[in-house]
Amino acid sequence: MSTILPDQLAKYPAISDLRKRAKRRLPLVAWEYLDMGTGDDVAVSRNRTGLDNVTLLPQFLKGEQTQNTETKLFGRTYAFPFGVAPIGLTGLMWPNAEIILAKAAAHYSFPYCLSTAATQTPETIGTVVGNMGWFQLYPPRDEAICDDLLKRARDSGFHTLVVTADVPAASRRERASRAGLRLPPRITPRFVWQAVRRPAWAIATLRHGLPRLRMVEKYVNSEGTLNSASLTNASQFVGERFGGTLSWAYLQRVRDLWNGPIVLKGLLHPNDTEKAIGMGIDGIGVSNHGGRQFDGAPAAIDALPGIMQQVAGRAAIVFDSGMRSGLDVIRALALGADFVLLGRAFMFGVAAFGEQGGAHVAEILLADLKTNMAQLGVTTIEEIKQLHQET
Ligand SMILES: Cc1cc2nc3c(=O)[nH]c(=O)nc-3n(C[C@H](O)[C@H](O)[C@H](O)COP(=O)(O)O)c2cc1C
Repeated sequence: MSTILPDQLAKYPAISDLRKRAKRRLPLVAWEYLDMGTGDDVAVSRNRTGLDNVTLLPQFLKGEQTQNTETKLFGRTYAFPFGVAPIGLTGLMWPNAEIILAKAAAHYSFPYCLSTAATQTPETIGTVVGNMGWFQLYPPRDEAICDDLLKRARDSGFHTLVVTADVPAASRRERASRAGLRLPPRITPRFVWQAVRRPAWAIATLRHGLPRLRMVEKYVNSEGTLNSASLTNASQFVGERFGGTLSWAYLQRVRDLWNGPIVLKGLLHPNDTEKAIGMGIDGIGVSNHGGRQFDGAPAAIDALPGIMQQVAGRAAIVFDSGMRSGLDVIRALALGADFVLLGRAFMFGVAAFGEQGGAHVAEILLADLKTNMAQLGVTTIEEIKQLHQET
């Protein structure tokens, strides 16, 4: 882990600073892929407005206090109540992003969730993530591939499974389309023009090569009809074989196969949580996919209280969508979450500062979390979770 200079943190003290710098360093197509929602990005704005509207009442005169951010989830202790959400096609935004973030997670002791659509394999990430590895499953059509993915994840040391529920079909994501994103990324004159104007990205990408969907390449080769390991075939393969397959019966099969905690990610309707709990799902992932799937979705934070009431402590609640600060983490915990994931915030950090990006984001979130805990007069994560009962 390379250390961050204090000057760097002082100059870029917020995720919004990293976002601005990331935008300057990424070619348009990679920037749009990272930052976009879908439709008119209304759900993205709704997430922000929903969070800004959550206010909390501080209490004072508690004397000198120190803040402890340690959190327990599914019987494991993490240093913070937050981790890295699964991000697909990561290498397009920055080469080796998965390795950078997995190293930061291992260093600080917060979870890193590797996506099925990752540009690295579980075998590679397993060696750097230590015991902080979570694995995200986009359910493949072929049972044999599903079984093999789960086995590879388990054998590589990933202990917590995240099954993504909120991608019943691909979303349109018009911004990426306008910017010229085609899967796989093609070397068109437009792409070259975008890339040469972003030399840091271009040099890093030249050094590591264009991203490949390494996780699934193995299955593309074994298909017979798709016999090359190129991203063309891999992305075609993912599109055809991983979409729209999840049902309650499928989930039950995964439940039976996975010997460890499962988080069902992307729920917004209380009814869905009831079924999930009934079949032994350990964590309810309240999320609108960062506003990237359905522009008519409510702000995830607005769906949280209803789900918390329905779940009533029978499963953990893992929240994501729109988190950009330690204060946002507190807001989600106060409204009923047990744990929080951040997607874009971590990727803004990597795009802004490469190797140091994961640590830079962790430092911002930790400082902001502790400061705002102090402002509120709480010293532990458990006390934050009690706040909703008081307000
Ligand atoms: C670039 C990008 C790629 C993503 N890829 C995946 C993925 O492969 N699997 C998944 O379950 N969620 C994926 N997500 C959704 C995130 O896991 C998470 O729900 C979302 O980023 C949370 O919102 P935030 O970015 O505002 O923190 C992706 C999000 C982004 C921004």
